[in-house]
This record gives sequence, C-alpha cells and structure tokens, in this order.
Amino acid sequence: MENKAAFLNSKGTPLSIQQAHLAQPEVHEVLIRNHAVAINPVDYKIQDTGVLVCEWPYILGEDIAGEVVEVGSAVTSFQKGDRVVAFALNIVTQSQANGGFQLYTATAASMVSLIPEKVAFTDAVVLPLGLATASGALFSTEYLGIDPPRAAEPIPTENKKKLVLIWGGASSVGSCAIQLCAAAGLTVLTTVSPKNTNYAKDLGAAEAFDYNDSAVVKNLEEAALGKEIIGAYDAISSEASLAACVDFLHAVGGGKLSLTLTNTKLPDLPEGVTVVAGRPPLQGPDGGEPIWRQVYKDFLGAGLQNGKLKAKPDAFVLKGGLGRLQEGLDLVRTGVSAKKIVVELMS
Ligand SMILES: NC(=O)c1ccc[n+]([C@@H]2O[C@H](COP(=O)([O-])OP(=O)(O)OC[C@H]3O[C@@H](n4cnc5c(N)ncnc54)[C@H](OP(=O)(O)O)[C@@H]3O)[C@@H](O)[C@H]2O)c1
Repeated sequence: MENKAAFLNSKGTPLSIQQAHLAQPEVHEVLIRNHAVAINPVDYKIQDTGVLVCEWPYILGEDIAGEVVEVGSAVTSFQKGDRVVAFALNIVTQSQANGGFQLYTATAASMVSLIPEKVAFTDAVVLPLGLATASGALFSTEYLGIDPPRAAEPIPTENKKKLVLIWGGASSVGSCAIQLCAAAGLTVLTTVSPKNTNYAKDLGAAEAFDYNDSAVVKNLEEAALGKEIIGAYDAISSEASLAACVDFLHAVGGGKLSLTLTNTKLPDLPEGVTVVAGRPPLQGPDGGEPIWRQVYKDFLGAGLQNGKLKAKPDAFVLKGGLGRLQEGLDLVRTGVSAKKIVVELMS
C-alpha cells in the first residue's frame, strides 16, 4: 500500500500532493482507505490563518469514509473490509497519521461507525464533524444537557412539549443538530433562508423561519408559546445570530445558549440568559469527548440504517482524487447553502 496526502506546508499556501508515510494504527485505532472526504469551514480557516496547527506540514480533513484495512490490537468492534465513516482527529491529536486529506488515515475506533450498504461513501462522509460538534453542544451536561437519542430505541413522545431552537438549520452542524433533537423527541424550531424551509422540515424541524426577516425573533417567540424551553443552539455563532438567539431566550423567559464558535464577541446578557461557548473538553487519548463516542456508537450507523439519521446536507461531489481538494476548499470558502463539498478519492 502506498500513501499520498494533500499537505498544507504553511498558512496561506495551496495544498501540495506528495507521497506520505503510511501509518500503522495505534492499538485503539483503525487504518482506513479513504474513498471520500468532506470539507469543512475549519479547513479553509486553517489554510488561511494557520489556526490550530502546532507543526507543519499539516494534513487537513476531519470527515472520512472508506474501508478498514488494518485494526489496532485492542480494537474489537471493526474488522478489515468494513465500510465505515469516521472523524479524523488530527485537529485534536496534531498527528499527520490522523489527518483526513490523504489516501490512508488512522483514527480512533471510538470515532468510527459502520455504514449500511445502501448508503454511499460520498453521502455518509458529510456527517462526522457536524454530528460530533452538534452532539457536544446539545448533550454535554455543561451545555444543553439534552438526553442523547439512541437509534434502536423509540422516539420518546413525552419530550414533544420541550422545545429547542437551532439557529442555522441549513448548515452542516445545524442539520445534524435538528436531526439529533428530532430523534430525541423534542420540538425543534430553526432558522434558514426561505429556499431551505422544506429542507429543514424534512430533517425534523417543526417550523423554520427566515433569519433575514426583521420579525424572526417575534416569529420564533410565537411558535414557542406553551412549550417548555430547553435552550438554544447557535450553529452559526456570528455576532448577529448570537444576538438574535439571546433576544429569543430573553423573550421566552430565559435559558441557556450553546455556541459553535468560541471567539465571537458576546453581547451584554439579560438576566436569565446564559451562554456556553465552544466544544466540551476532549478527554482521553483514544478518541475525543465521551458524548461523541456515545453518539457514534448508538446513533450514527444505526440511525443511517433505520432512517432516523439522513446524510445531510447533500453532498456536492468532486470526482478525481486528492487533486480536487484545493478546488473544494475554495468552494467552501466562497460559501455553501445546504450542501457539503465532498471529494471522491476512489470510485
Ligand atoms: N467548534 C467546532 O468544533 C466547530 C465544528 C464545526 C463547525 N464549526 C463552525 O461552525 C460554523 C458552521 O459550520 P458548518 O460546517 O455547519 O457551516 P456551513 O454548512 O458551511 O454553513 C452554511 C450554511 O450556513 C447558513 N447560514 C449562514 N449565515 C447564517 C445566519 N446568519 N443565520 C442562519 N443560518 C446561516 C446558510 O443557510 P442558508 O443557506 O439557509 O442561508 C448555509 O446553508 C463555521 O463557522 C464552522 O467553522 C465549529
């Protein structure tokens, strides 16, 4: 087996495709032959600014899907030949072996899920980072503390009176958040551009409002009447979205707001509104935050199988291998709407 990677040699430079070391999986890892990788905003942010990089050259990429080709000695849940989707953890571990933009990636088995035969690699690959990010923000006790769904269990009907706002339901993270909350049985309100209203409802939102409408907070407040407010998750975390979420929570009597980004300037918070920002602390060398592992184990693969989880946003696929990754990064940098840019590495 020969490996090639798309290296980022320093910030502000284009990706460079070169031979790369073929990793041997650590005891708790699997080695995956990547068939498809997806591109996230963090990838172009790293390319532009060097943020989060401790050592150059760096291998970007968090979302991978492919076939298991080696398993570490402590791994019992996967075997060679399994079709899997996984979170490539370089962003956490700072190890080139764990970067996604290469032909072979080693990653913690706890951040891997089987893909049902009916789901293509290029579809499943849209999920890993978005699902992990939304899970941390929704389910960790220090964030919204919602009970995570388990795909094999029925959706709890008693939760329907509980309401959560997901701001930015057409984003990758927001799409995952809607699906997770809907599977947990909650009533979900969200905000999107009008063209994405049906998209958000298909994912399980009860109502979707235009975030550019000056009456958006009023509309959300009216839709929330009579419900028990669990809190809000701002999957966009711009100053404007954050301010609108704070206004909503204030209007409905207070609550907790969970954010995707840590560096957005916070407004003065009215009484009763609290903000928790960023992702939960990452624990353990063997694969990230416990709530991520739980969702990967109990929801990702099984949810794709039984339909509680859809591979959304839809993939916009660039065929042709590692050489298309820079073009993909440039597309994400320009901005996408209810789409995930995916590069097919092997057809
Ligand atoms: N902290 C973490 O671990 C972490 C992880 C992943 C992502 N993030 C960050 O979270 C943000 C979202 O990432 P992503 O991959 O989900 O983004 P994305 O899919 O690229 O987001 C694009 C979508 O955002 C929506 N949008 C843009 N501005 C909006 C606004 N003001 N209100 C509501 N929706 C808006 C658009 O919706 P319409 O098309 O409907 O207009 C568009 O569909 C990025 O800043 C990313 O870096 C952080």
